[in-house]
Amino acid sequence: MTEELVVDARVAEPFLSPEDYRAAVEEIRSAAALYYGGAELAMDDAVYDSLMARVAATEATHPEWKAEESPTEVVAAGGGVVGDVVHSTPMLSLDNVFDEETLRRWAARLDRLLGRPAAGYTVEPKIDGLAIAARYVDGHLVQVATRGDGRAGEDVTGQARRAAGLPERLAEPVTLEIRGEVFMTDADFEVANGMRTGAGEPAFAHPRSAAAGTLRAQDRTYDAPLSFLAYAVHGLGDGAHSAEMAAVERLGIATTAGSPAGMPVCATVDEVLEAVQALNAKRGSLGFGIDGAVIKADQPADRAAAGFSSRAPRWGIAYKFPADTRTTKLLRIEVQIGRTGVITPVAVLEPVQISGVIVTSATLHNFDDLVRRNVWPGDTVFVRRAGDVIPEVTGAKLDERPADAAPFEPPARCPRCDGEIDRSQKRWRCTRGRACGAHESLAYYAARHSMDIEGLGGKLIDMLVAAGLVTDPADLYDLDVPTVTKLERMGEVSATKLVTAIQASREQPLSRVLTGLGVRMTGRSMSRRLARHFGTMQALLDASVEDLQRVEGVGPERAVMIAAELVEIAPVITKLVERGVNMTEPDTAGPAGPGASSADGADRPDLPLRKPDGTPMTVVVTGAVPGLTRDEGNEAVERLGGKSSGSVSKRTDLVVVGAGAGSKAEKAEQLGIRIMPADEFAAVLTAHTS
Ligand code: IVH
Repeated sequence: MTEELVVDARVAEPFLSPEDYRAAVEEIRSAAALYYGGAELAMDDAVYDSLMARVAATEATHPEWKAEESPTEVVAAGGGVVGDVVHSTPMLSLDNVFDEETLRRWAARLDRLLGRPAAGYTVEPKIDGLAIAARYVDGHLVQVATRGDGRAGEDVTGQARRAAGLPERLAEPVTLEIRGEVFMTDADFEVANGMRTGAGEPAFAHPRSAAAGTLRAQDRTYDAPLSFLAYAVHGLGDGAHSAEMAAVERLGIATTAGSPAGMPVCATVDEVLEAVQALNAKRGSLGFGIDGAVIKADQPADRAAAGFSSRAPRWGIAYKFPADTRTTKLLRIEVQIGRTGVITPVAVLEPVQISGVIVTSATLHNFDDLVRRNVWPGDTVFVRRAGDVIPEVTGAKLDERPADAAPFEPPARCPRCDGEIDRSQKRWRCTRGRACGAHESLAYYAARHSMDIEGLGGKLIDMLVAAGLVTDPADLYDLDVPTVTKLERMGEVSATKLVTAIQASREQPLSRVLTGLGVRMTGRSMSRRLARHFGTMQALLDASVEDLQRVEGVGPERAVMIAAELVEIAPVITKLVERGVNMTEPDTAGPAGPGASSADGADRPDLPLRKPDGTPMTVVVTGAVPGLTRDEGNEAVERLGGKSSGSVSKRTDLVVVGAGAGSKAEKAEQLGIRIMPADEFAAVLTAHTS
């Protein structure tokens, strides 16, 4: 019955022909056979779920096409490896929901079945591993079997005995059956890959397939770690699920309830939704992969009354989170050198959407890891983005490696300064450390568009760095005239001028400090937006990834990057503060802390460059504006509530045209965009700021 499968005929598109339907059924069956057999994932979860939803939708509209033993009806979509251990009761599946509405529909249906509201629900993590049943006799672990086809599974006692959380002996001599999930924590996965590549085998691509392969392994020379969390027990009486899990935990078995994810008991669906959201929010910090939340009626009476469909209980449901792992193509590997000289390989990816975010690059951690994970340019790779964590490439699909692919050649010398590379640690470093990037970061800090320190040019920076006087921008403020005079060709007059210019730069607004610090994925105008939004450096440093996303133009990927960058440069910021560098933005309404109203004028429709709906006009300044440099012109646009842009398009709202304007002014005329002469713009600015 497809009614049982809450995945969703409402949103999924049915297939239009029986041939397409059957092809999809076959595709699901073969992917499921690989998945449950412990091989590498044949398709990523999101694709699998949506194919399954389309099959269900087709069966709802064309029941006459329905395949015998449709994957929507049978456990493990018919893909489980059947063994000879017959389960005491069938090991069933769970139906899925993907959003609030379908969860509410499920709960309403449960209430209808019961004829009254359910007496409480539990919310626990849905572990992304393999279901097993473990039999204990008189407190001793005697047999462990996989789910198989739900009726009988394979004996995996040998390997499962090693799983942390599934002890050999219990605290009491009880006889019972535990059901739960064998999986690899993130730490297990690291260790497992180290062992595997150490044994000369290709790395595991994904924690789930690593756990599946390990659980079913017969004759490996190494024992990769496994973990276990129980989610059900048979033979402990007939208590509430929450009470039973607490009892299982007391016997010494690890449970989902006792894991960092926890298992709150909720009285209402609203509380359930809150708990599901809270679990999703901490998904990235659990230390193991989950692919959703499982909601269950807590009371045995409710469970008995609700019963089962052919493949799943009606008293429980899986609320699937958006897939955190997808596959995509690794276009190339770039080498990034951090501020402290750390050299990191970065994956440039064919854009892929992972839990609502387009991911285009991901970390590859370090060069050892790159070899260990056996990832080559051109490979189809698994990319994981868990919570707020920067996306990572976990492995490659080796069977899809192009014939002409070749491993990546790590750099022999530092790509930035040509210095030697220190390879003694996992994280390679340029032996010049902070000094490696010092020239670049100091030049950027001193530049006209940043802190505008007159006289601090490339040659002088080289001399200061070579003399060991300066490695980061904050060191500039420690320079005094006698020290600078000691440099080659530096008289007292120029030294005084330089030191004065450096000291004067302490008054620059926060937006310029931010620009000067060169936060990755931000430029001048983004720095201005950030400064204007938060008002002070402290408010910016205190901002969460969500707070950052309230700034125009900051999406989730950029927000994560900015947050990570701010953590990295925090020590330099502290040094700058200690040296009296201004960390506030003038003309802002003050700090916009979490929940505070925005200081960037988003709530100020009175600004001259706002559209009637309060959103910023897109403004291009071309040619000279009297009294302003080009940068100042752009700053002025933003101060007046607009958004400055460098090129004219249909989306431009206004073009400010000054002396010497060229093709941009012509294009604006052709497109019929409003034009404002530069002197009029200057007058608006004066009127607004005076
Ligand atoms: S309860 C009668 N709880 O998800 C079915 N299952 O998609 C009882 N799973 O077969 C299952 N975490 O392998 C339950 N906390 C959890 C789970 C969980 C993972 C797996 C389990 C199940 C599959 C259904």
